[in-house]
Amino acid sequence: MSEQHKSTTHFGYQTVNADEKEQMVASVFHSVAAKYDVMNDLMSFGIHRLWKRFTIDCSGVRPGHKVLDLAGGTGDLTAKFSRMVGDQGQVVLADINDSMLKVGRDKLRNKGLGSNIAYVQANAEALPFPDNHFDLITIAFGLRNVTNKDKALASMQRVLKPGGRLLVLEFSKPQHEIMSKLYDFYSFNVLPKMGALVAQDSESYQYLAESIRMHPDQETLKHMMEEAGLEQVEYFNLTDGVVALHRGFKF
Ligand SMILES: C[S@@+](CC[C@H](N)C(=O)[O-])C[C@H]1O[C@@H](n2cnc3c(N)ncnc32)[C@H](O)[C@@H]1O
Repeated sequence: MSEQHKSTTHFGYQTVNADEKEQMVASVFHSVAAKYDVMNDLMSFGIHRLWKRFTIDCSGVRPGHKVLDLAGGTGDLTAKFSRMVGDQGQVVLADINDSMLKVGRDKLRNKGLGSNIAYVQANAEALPFPDNHFDLITIAFGLRNVTNKDKALASMQRVLKPGGRLLVLEFSKPQHEIMSKLYDFYSFNVLPKMGALVAQDSESYQYLAESIRMHPDQETLKHMMEEAGLEQVEYFNLTDGVVALHRGFKF
């Protein structure tokens, strides 16, 4: 393929060839996997736990359900869903990155969970599951990292059961100027330093800040989900829109 026909995308603020992004994202998560949980608590002052709690409250999960925790990483949501679906249900923790999956699997096993959890290494753009399979799919802080988000959303729509729901928890656009300014200062001045200090890796946390700014805002993501065939799409701003939970159904 000639240079001018190669499709490009963003890796943070950098424009890169679409086929390079996956590898660059992989390096970030191989690098942060071991320190991922501790960094999450530090960077968000623990608030990520409340965002995840809200996601669980919106999940409608019941005993016996099949749940896909996509880009599930170290498995925070999987742990909760595993308890909710019980012995008759199943939770699939899927992630493209084997370092993140390994940290997740070890953590969940240490919590005594596992009999109803399956671990699958998979790309969100091409999910290796049958059509109409899951009652619920969650993707928390994952979609931002995916190269072709439309393809991923279509893949999720395909594997959802009719009546099933998709929850996308992701950084979004703060609603007030003052929050926006504070958040910018924190993301670009404090986060990379914290990353350097705790995880010896400032670049990955610079990518985090940049990738958040490049991610579609609330209305754009809502539209993308509708284009992928999801219905009754709505979103809930959390922490003034620093994070938003989008919910859509397949009918
Ligand atoms: C910020 S972590 C989120 C982990 C977890 N969901 C949470 O909320 O703590 C993002 C995860 O997305 C995964 N990821 C990135 N691109 C992906 C893709 N194309 N398909 C599946 N997972 C992907 C990464 O490997 C990483 O584990």
